[in-house]
Amino acid sequence: MGCTNHDDQKLQFDSLVVQGVPARKNEYGSIMPPIFLSSTYRFEDIDNQGPYEYVRTQNPTRQKAENLIATLEGAKFAFGFSSGMAALTTVFEAFNPGDHIISSANIYGGTYRYFTDFFPKKKIDCDFYYDLNQLKASDFKPNTKAVFLESPANPTLRVVDIARIAKLAHDHGAILIVDNTFMTSYLQKPLQLGADVVAYSATKYYGGHADLCAGFIVTDRQDLAEQFQDYQNTLGATISPFDSYTLIRGTKTLSLRLDRQMENVKAVTEALQTQEGVAKVYFPGSFSEEEAAIQAKQARGNGAVLSFEVTPDVDLKAFFNNLQMIDLAVSLGGVESLVCRPATMTHEPYPRNDLEKIGVGDNMVRFSVGIENKNDIIHDVTQALTSSLKRRASKVV
Ligand SMILES: Cc1ncc(COP(=O)(O)O)c(C=O)c1O
Repeated sequence: MGCTNHDDQKLQFDSLVVQGVPARKNEYGSIMPPIFLSSTYRFEDIDNQGPYEYVRTQNPTRQKAENLIATLEGAKFAFGFSSGMAALTTVFEAFNPGDHIISSANIYGGTYRYFTDFFPKKKIDCDFYYDLNQLKASDFKPNTKAVFLESPANPTLRVVDIARIAKLAHDHGAILIVDNTFMTSYLQKPLQLGADVVAYSATKYYGGHADLCAGFIVTDRQDLAEQFQDYQNTLGATISPFDSYTLIRGTKTLSLRLDRQMENVKAVTEALQTQEGVAKVYFPGSFSEEEAAIQAKQARGNGAVLSFEVTPDVDLKAFFNNLQMIDLAVSLGGVESLVCRPATMTHEPYPRNDLEKIGVGDNMVRFSVGIENKNDIIHDVTQALTSSLKRRASKVV
């Protein structure tokens, strides 16, 4: 089996991220685990193979990374992939022609592209809901196999009541799949809220340094785990030994980084709320009091991504150009602050109409707040906004 939890559960989360791959279990007691690059392993004889056979099937470094992610989640099984999309599409491989899936309409653009491009080819029917909190029993069909959601969602930070949706799904014989990339197991544990499968882009907060591409699927269900292990080996988009190592290293500071990032994001949010040129700031719970209460109930923090809309008198191109420290780039969750324009970058796969319906306009900026000094972050973003105000520019002319 992919991996099982081990005996470290008594440690607190911020100890587990550091000690979750115990040095005392490493070869030669090395404090950091070795990277096993060998693609294949010798058989003792024709009837006896050792614990490892071939890198795609399993690898000692990957196994440690998978154990670590399962341990942090408090889950029985975790499976490592070469990207978040590889993890997600391996989960979706479980669906067959004739199946019906319910999804939140506000999800990562790549996942949306998979649902709208690949599901029709596979004759899988997918219904999108703009507000999954309104989902009701009559929305389920006899062939509904799963509900998929992100909470908070990329990039609007809309929040969905995971426990409520899990119960609804189970009442109708469907599973709940949660993409927990924005929260990580540090801030939110969807399995404990009733979800059946949790998926991650580990390229983001787990890696944390914008230098690896990886994804994970986590579950407590033996039947799903067996299926995922088979798919992982058969489809083959597994996390490499090197990325497994980088993942283990990056994860050691996950809670430390997120604590600092959340402190920073709070200060940045406050600064943007009174900043000229900012029309609206989005964060988990900003949509409604109901969503704020759900977020407070199901997560132990808001994470470190916010989005904001600029007013029509801000020249957005100038804003991005005027940033002195923060870079314009896709992705999030690294130590460095990054901004992007979802409408033309991460959410470009959405047709215009659908983007508008989920509330993502050309004037929205997604902001992944890093661990830099919060005053430097605030100074950079506010100076770039102020110097991009069109009327200011016209005064200069
Ligand atoms: C919420 C979410 N899920 C999944 C993915 C896909 O992950 P990856 O880029 O590692 O394939 C992303 C990427 O941005 C994401 O933001």
